[in-house]
Amino acid sequence: MDVTTRMKLLRRIAQWSVAALAIALVAIQFVPVERTNPPVETEVPAAAEVRAVLRRACFDCHSNETVWPWYSRVAPVSWLVAHDVHEGREEMNFSTWNRLTTKEQDHAQRECWEKVGEGEMPPRLYLQPHPKAHLSAADRSVLRAWSLSKDGEDSDER
Ligand code: HEC
Repeated sequence: MDVTTRMKLLRRIAQWSVAALAIALVAIQFVPVERTNPPVETEVPAAAEVRAVLRRACFDCHSNETVWPWYSRVAPVSWLVAHDVHEGREEMNFSTWNRLTTKEQDHAQRECWEKVGEGEMPPRLYLQPHPKAHLSAADRSVLRAWSLSKDGEDSDER
């Protein structure tokens, strides 16, 4: 194969690759993604200032009041967002707090500071496009006080 033929072949391959990628990107948009906000059953029983912090930094994934951004409509990012929301709600959902026993509520409340204190929540990837979810020192101490007002790990167990 001479140089010109090889160049032509390479160009052809590149063109097909771009076309295939474009088709794939269009095709994956048709994969159904669940972006529902089921009914809110209850309000977390916490002071208004606590609720404000939770709402600002946690509700997108831990409540049924998710604000679905435009990129949550574009695959493959939509898959990531939906996965986080569904998993987040499953782990702890402030909108269905009433479904937990008192003990489970205390446990979840306690765990909030564990996650936030360790810097695991809100997830770093989420903070990039959601600067408002950054917790100030004041926000953190509000959350900490609320969270630690419950006894630790099943302390009422013998
Ligand atoms: C971008 C979505 C998202 C946001 C925002 C978010 N979380 Fe989470 N959270 C998750 C996901 C997903 C999990 C489950 C996987 C894990 O533990 O990393 C989780 C797990 C947790 C757990 C563990 C629950 C359990 O039973 O183990 C706690 C507690 C928690 N989050 C608290 C918070 C708090 C408090 C905030 C706000 C300051 C927050 N999260 C913000 C997605 C999120």
